[in-house]
Amino acid sequence: MRLIIYTGKGGTGKTVTACSTAIKMAENNHNTLIISADPAHTLGDAFMMPDVGYEPKMVLSNLHALQIDPVIEMNKQYSTILSYMASTFSAKGIDETLAYEIAMLPGMTQLFSLLKIDEVVRTKIFDSIVLDMPASGEALRYLYLPKLVGSIGRKLTGLFGIFSGVSRMFQPLSKSPARTSVLQSEVELLDRIESLSEIIRNQDMSSIRLVANPDTFSIENAKRAFVSASLYGINVDLAIINKIMPLGSSDQYYSNWADFQKTKVNEARANFFPLPVKEVQLHTSELRGLEMLKINGDLIFGNEDPAQIFYHGRPFTFTTDNSTLRMIVKVPFTERDDFDIERYSDQLTIKVKSSVGYVVNIIPLPAATIGMKLVRAKLYDNELTILFEKGV
Ligand SMILES: Nc1ncnc2c1ncn2[C@@H]1O[C@H](COP(=O)(O)OP(=O)(O)OP(=O)(O)O)[C@@H](O)[C@H]1O
Ligand SMILES: [Mg+2]
Repeated sequence: MRLIIYTGKGGTGKTVTACSTAIKMAENNHNTLIISADPAHTLGDAFMMPDVGYEPKMVLSNLHALQIDPVIEMNKQYSTILSYMASTFSAKGIDETLAYEIAMLPGMTQLFSLLKIDEVVRTKIFDSIVLDMPASGEALRYLYLPKLVGSIGRKLTGLFGIFSGVSRMFQPLSKSPARTSVLQSEVELLDRIESLSEIIRNQDMSSIRLVANPDTFSIENAKRAFVSASLYGINVDLAIINKIMPLGSSDQYYSNWADFQKTKVNEARANFFPLPVKEVQLHTSELRGLEMLKINGDLIFGNEDPAQIFYHGRPFTFTTDNSTLRMIVKVPFTERDDFDIERYSDQLTIKVKSSVGYVVNIIPLPAATIGMKLVRAKLYDNELTILFEKGV
């Protein structure tokens, strides 16, 4: 079983890359299911098949597509919890605090979408799943949720305690379903979250792949996802820089952009080190439809099987005790290079002089370093060890 999850900033090309990967995997004889957890009907748009829906729809031999509807999923599996929530909402009216809590709920629908993966894995019909995630920041949080649930412990709080104070809304009310059946649903749900967590953190089975464009914003966004995934023990095996404009245009406007993007690609290679990076050009027209997606898959993977694990390792390691946090980061330079380290609040900037000019490596710092001071940085053998200490 193989699970590949594409993530990245909005519009970078997650959906098309996921589709191209899935087509190529099907061609490599993997019985593949592509799942989109995006609320819009994106898979239908990409494959140009309007009827991709809630049930797996055959796209090609060895390839099925499924568009998750979070509301259906939630209704089907968790109607007890839903009706409990609904009655609580209507009984309480909506004040300011409640409005805030309600704003948290879209996150729950995302989680229900992810749980579909656990369900598909259990059926054992498919041997590979490619998951197209909605824009990263949001969705990844829910991938990490199982780990949080695990560490909080199922006995300590009810499920809703975890959703940042939503529990306050769930006071037992006379009109709502019996508390015991809600508890029963909670326990079942926690079991499924735990099983999903095991799947996602199994590094021989699941990998996250980062999709970025040759621009500062999407690269930084992907880098954050990279560090967060490492923090939670989820493997990231590949970065894809998509929509690169070709060099050598006679038009000044295009050639300026292409030159700029070239520097961004170099920067991305330094930032995603030691991940392999694949570069994908901006096609001459909008990338969609089976034929173009297939060509795109060949451009990305060539003769390689996209199901392989492209990188297996620990790009970031974190060790903590009461007052210190030690972070070890693999970096694409050595002691001999001329480099500079600076910390700006929650990120570390490493500037290195290289053959292609200065390369800036930005490392987002884990929240645990807030209130800590960077006391030492040591570079040895492509590994940068950074020591943070409390109250220095
Ligand atoms: N290499 C490329 N060449 C040409 N067009 C591309 C390329 N990659 C993506 N596109 C186009 O860019 C648009 C966005 O792509 P896509 O929907 O895959 O991005 P996304 O990251 O899934 O977006 P969202 O965050 O909204 O889910 C689409 O119109 C797609 O056809
Ligand atoms: Mg998409």
